[in-house]
This record gives sequence, structure tokens and C-alpha cells, in this order.
Amino acid sequence: MASLMLNGAENHTLRSGITPKGLGFLGSDFHGNEISRVNLVTSSKISRTRTVITKCSLSASRPASQPRFIQHKKEAFWFYRFLSIVYDHVINPGHWTEDMRDDALEPADLNSRNMIVVDVGGGTGFTTLGIVKHVDAKNVTILDQSPHQLAKAKQKEPLKECKIIEGDAEDLPFPTDYADRYVSAGSIEYWPDPQRGIKEAFRVLKLGGKACIIGPVYPTFWLSRFFADVWMLFPKEEEYIEWFEKAGFKDIQLKRIGPKWYRGVRRHGLIMGCSVTGIKPASGDSPLQLGQKEEDVAKPVNPFVFLARFVLGGLAATYYVLVPVYMWLKDQIMPKGRPI
Ligand SMILES: C[S@@+](CC[C@H](N)C(=O)[O-])C[C@H]1O[C@@H](n2cnc3c(N)ncnc32)[C@H](O)[C@@H]1O
Repeated sequence: MASLMLNGAENHTLRSGITPKGLGFLGSDFHGNEISRVNLVTSSKISRTRTVITKCSLSASRPASQPRFIQHKKEAFWFYRFLSIVYDHVINPGHWTEDMRDDALEPADLNSRNMIVVDVGGGTGFTTLGIVKHVDAKNVTILDQSPHQLAKAKQKEPLKECKIIEGDAEDLPFPTDYADRYVSAGSIEYWPDPQRGIKEAFRVLKLGGKACIIGPVYPTFWLSRFFADVWMLFPKEEEYIEWFEKAGFKDIQLKRIGPKWYRGVRRHGLIMGCSVTGIKPASGDSPLQLGQKEEDVAKPVNPFVFLARFVLGGLAATYYVLVPVYMWLKDQIMPKGRPI
């Protein structure tokens, strides 16, 4: 059975009895149907187990027609052609801090230096730096579709012994039953077919291996939802769980993550995300059968359509550069201990 784990700011919020807007409901699936409540397991800081209705999934189901301009391989490739220049120094400090990374990696259970680990969509190696604290770098492979991102990873001293390869998350160049751990942080939102990527995670893991996918969560605030839908995929918590279940994973857990200065507010999405884990219960490929790939990268695209998608998607992304700054200012201004 799937379970949710709260952490960080949310724990504090629960302890102090304040329910932040947007925290906790899991009442409908992404087709709008009622689904059962799930157990919410708090992290070790709070040992109670309780069932809640999680509110961050309250938003209505999304039509498939939403554009998500950068949730495409070619657009994502060019997006990171430019973003890689500022990714580590300008983007990550507002979106994906070392604290959050280490918190999100904790459910991956990296308990041996000899583990074989693949970091899919590993980019500049920011999450890999968290992985090699626990696992020998020579056992870790960083895979990404962006050579520009990988070039940054290659420059990092602690990652010198990692294998660094270009590849597609939806079609991994690893044998079946290969790795002890599959980690992917902040990449699923760009995959045209996330279910296929998660099926690949299942395939490449050994029997008993664990997948850990870290990603954003669909916002509940209308303006954030608008920009999210223009930019890329912000899955709902239940979507993550359903993809894991369909791929064949067992013992699925979802832990919420977010920066402390948000004080548990989840309505804007992106950096208020989650870390989802699942165990592979049988060797071999996933039992899930899928048809053709959603996107054929070899197929030519209309350059004008491509440019329009790229510019609109990039503009929508700018909103999410401003949101953490706005939340940081609110955190500075509002009296401590109060919700913001
Ligand atoms: C937000 S960055 C995350 C990088 C890194 N995991 C981290 O934690 O900082 C997203 C990465 O996913 C990569 N990516 C997007 N789509 C991909 C795909 N289909 N296959 C492999 N990598 C992909 C991008 O090139 C980019 O480097």
C-alpha cells in the first residue's frame, strides 16, 4: 500500500497545530474520480501514524490539452542549453537546496558504499553530490539528455570517478536487473511519457532494488497552476503513486519535501515537491505493456512552432524563479511561528 510521509516544515506545522493551506488531501484521482484515503506516515521526527485527507490534490482534473510547452525532449534540450549556464549558482539556491536534496534522498536508503546507483536526468550532478556521500562514486552513473548539463557534472571533483553518459530516461542504456538504486531528481517533469520512464526504472533495477523519484507537485493556487500548465508537467501526488503501482513497484512511499522558508505552504508547487520510492518485487522487466513512444525525437519539427513553444514555456518558467523570492520575502516579513 502506498503511504505519504511528511517532513520539514510540514512537521513543524502539524506539531504547532496549524494546517497550512494546501496541505494534505488525496480525494480524487487525476481523472476526477474518488479514490481512497491513504495513510500519511510522518517522518521519524514525529512518530504518529494517521490518516489524513491531503489537500494538495484538491484541484480539478486537468485536460490533456494543456500545452506544457517544455515537457518535450527537444524543447527541454534547448532549455537546458541555456539554463545549464546558471543552474548551479542561480537556479538551485532558490529551488533545490542541499538540505532539501539530502532530505529527499533519505528514503532512497543508500546504505552501502558498494551499491550500483543510476542517477537519471542527473544534469550538473547536484543530486549525485548527495548520492556520493553514501556510495562510492565509481559505482554511480549519471545519465542525462543534455551534454551541456553533463559538462558541468564532469567538472566536479567528487564526481570524477562517476560514469557520465548521454541518454534518454524513457529508454535507458542499462541492462535489465542492473542497479541497486535508481534515483531521478527534478527530471520527470520534462518527460513526455512519465509512465514509460518509471517502467524503465523498474526494468533496470535488481530484485529488491529501490527507485526514488523526486519531483514537483501540481499547485493549488490558480496563477501557479496556469504557469505550471504552460511550462511543463507538475504531477499530482496520486499520479506519482499510480505510475509506480502500474510499473509493478511495491511498498510505495511518498515523502513531501520543501524549503523551510515556505513554512509548509504547498499551494504554489514546484519546490514544494515530493520524493517517491518503490521496491522492485520480482526480477525482469515491468509487467506493464506500453505502445509506441509519445515523442519521436528523430521526427522534424516546424521551427516556428518550436520557437513559440520554447519562448512561451521559458516565460512561464520565469514565474517559478520569482515565487521562491516572494515566499522568502514573506517569510522575512511575517512574524515567526505564524502561517504565511
Ligand atoms: C531540473 S534538472 C535536474 C538535474 C539534477 N537531477 C539535479 O538534481 O539538479 C532536470 C534534468 O533532466 C534532464 N532531462 C530532461 N528530460 C530528460 C530525458 N528525457 N532524459 C534524460 N534527461 C532528461 C535535463 O536535461 C536536466 O538536466
